[in-house]
Amino acid sequence: MYNQNGDIMLVNNILHIFTCRRHSCDASCHARLPAVSKQKRQMSATSKMLLNVADLSVVFDNGKPTAHCALERVNLNIPEGGTVGLVGESGSGKTVLAHSILGLLPSNGTVTSGRAEWLGHNLLDLPEGELRQIRGKEIAMIFQDPQASLNPVFRVGHQIEWVLKLHRRLIGADAKAEVLRLFEAVQLRDPERCYRCYPHELSGGMCQRAMIAMAIACHPKLLIADEPTSALDVTTQAEILDLLREVRRQFSMSLLFISHDVGAVSGICDQVVVMLRGNIIESGHAASVFQSPQHPYTQGLVNAATCGRNLRDTAAQTDETTLDQATRIQKNSLEKMPCQP
Ligand SMILES: Nc1ncnc2c1ncn2[C@@H]1O[C@H](COP(=O)(O)OP(=O)(O)OP(=O)(O)O)[C@@H](O)[C@H]1O
Ligand SMILES: [Mg+2]
Repeated sequence: MYNQNGDIMLVNNILHIFTCRRHSCDASCHARLPAVSKQKRQMSATSKMLLNVADLSVVFDNGKPTAHCALERVNLNIPEGGTVGLVGESGSGKTVLAHSILGLLPSNGTVTSGRAEWLGHNLLDLPEGELRQIRGKEIAMIFQDPQASLNPVFRVGHQIEWVLKLHRRLIGADAKAEVLRLFEAVQLRDPERCYRCYPHELSGGMCQRAMIAMAIACHPKLLIADEPTSALDVTTQAEILDLLREVRRQFSMSLLFISHDVGAVSGICDQVVVMLRGNIIESGHAASVFQSPQHPYTQGLVNAATCGRNLRDTAAQTDETTLDQATRIQKNSLEKMPCQP
């Protein structure tokens, strides 16, 4: 969610809004897979890199003798105009990766190595003030639970105005007119009413549309969507995915799309990165990875999606020794590659 200064904050549920000091500021199947054209491959090979994450490691202090390693020397590239899907089982480190990039790690999380180059600046080294200028303006993020991501005690329209004020210096009638225009862009019915509503007065799908409106308010270059549809019903999921596709095209944004849903990733992303236990184990063009997965975990993932099984069960159903061996071999070969995906 965003605070009254229009800055992205880290909040997982409504209770945390009042109690937590988690951030320094507030203290498918094969048949559905699209073919990758030669031209598209060449395009992405020559595109300018927007974000280049290299060797990123993150540990959490859980009060135990040994810190928990959540990310282990992770590499990730997002080209200008690229759509990268980040998939992996629960706890594999997808959200931690996104939060590290934006400086949103909780106080017990530490980056122990690596860089996150954003147009020549290492985001991990930037002072909070400079990072705040990038967060929300150049890199926007939408979260899994839209209702909990908005502040419950402020009107939805006002929350979007904070972002417009901070990053575009829009206030008063101009800001309101822009909010209404954004609500129309995200196809929110009755924008005037939505502007006045509190988050609890909107449905989950409407809240997510409002979050997308907030995310595109400053025409960011990169949108990070962390499981933006998993809290929604199936019909609304499809609508929100269509909307994401549309706004990405309209605003020429790059997209980092974090999801458990292999079908959604294959429908929206050119590239895919697969994570397992804090490691990137496979990456490449989405169609290639999903059509001929190399790592046993990715194979299990694709099979599970094809059979409609839950992604969370995939690692459990794949033999542990095979997974460990394959992860080590894959990691070694990925490290030798100059660029992922
Ligand atoms: N605040 C925290 N304190 C301690 N450990 C944490 C914290 N946040 C995340 N972790 C650990 O980091 C690892 C990665 O978590 P992360 O939230 O990135 O998983 P994820 O891939 O996003 O999972 P999901 O798909 O369920 O959202 C997990 O082992 C998790 O327990
Ligand atoms: Mg997550």
